[in-house]
Amino acid sequence: MAKQLLTVTVNGRHHEKAVEPRTLLVHFLREELRLTGAHIGCETSHCGACTVDIDGRSVKSCTHLAVQCEGSEVLTVEGLAGLGGGVLHAVQEGFYQEHGLQCGFCTPGMLVRAYRLLQDNPDPSEAEIRAGLSGNLCRCTGYQNIVKAVQYAARKLRAAAPASASASASVTA
Ligand code: FES
Ligand code: FES
Repeated sequence: MAKQLLTVTVNGRHHEKAVEPRTLLVHFLREELRLTGAHIGCETSHCGACTVDIDGRSVKSCTHLAVQCEGSEVLTVEGLAGLGGGVLHAVQEGFYQEHGLQCGFCTPGMLVRAYRLLQDNPDPSEAEIRAGLSGNLCRCTGYQNIVKAVQYAARKLRAAAPASASASASVTA
C-alpha cells in the first residue's frame, strides 16, 4: 500500500514520517516513535487504555488513524512530565500519592484523560470526575483512589495557578 507523509508534533517534537494510510495512531506511536505508554487493551474504543490528547481533546488512539493527525499536536503520557517542568505532572503525583493504580495497565490512559479533564474543568465535583473518566476502565482499583488522585491533582493545579498568573503579571510589568 502506498505510504503517505505524515507531519505531526508529539510531546513537543516534530515528526515527518511515511505511514500507510491504514496505520492506527496507537501503532504509529508504539512502533514508529517507540512511545509505548499508550496501551492496547480492547482495540474497540471501550477501555481507554490507549487514550492520548490531540489538539486539546481526549482521543482513543486504537480507533484513530495516524494520518488523521496531520498537522496536529499530540500529547502522550510520556509528555506529561515535560508539562510538569521535567518533574511529575500533578496528575502523576496524584496517582502516586493516592495509590491510584495497581497493575498499571489503565494508568497511562487515565493520566492523559485526567489531564484533559482538569484542563477543561479545574474544579470538578466527584460526580464530574467520575463522568469525565467514564470512558476509561480499570479492572483493579474500584476507582475510589483514582478519584482521590484526580482531586489531589486538581487541588495542586489550582494552588499553583495564582502563583504562575502573578509571576507572568510581574514579568509583563
Ligand atoms: Fe483503545 Fe481500549 S485499546 S479503547
Ligand atoms: Fe489495573 Fe487499572 S490499575 S487496570
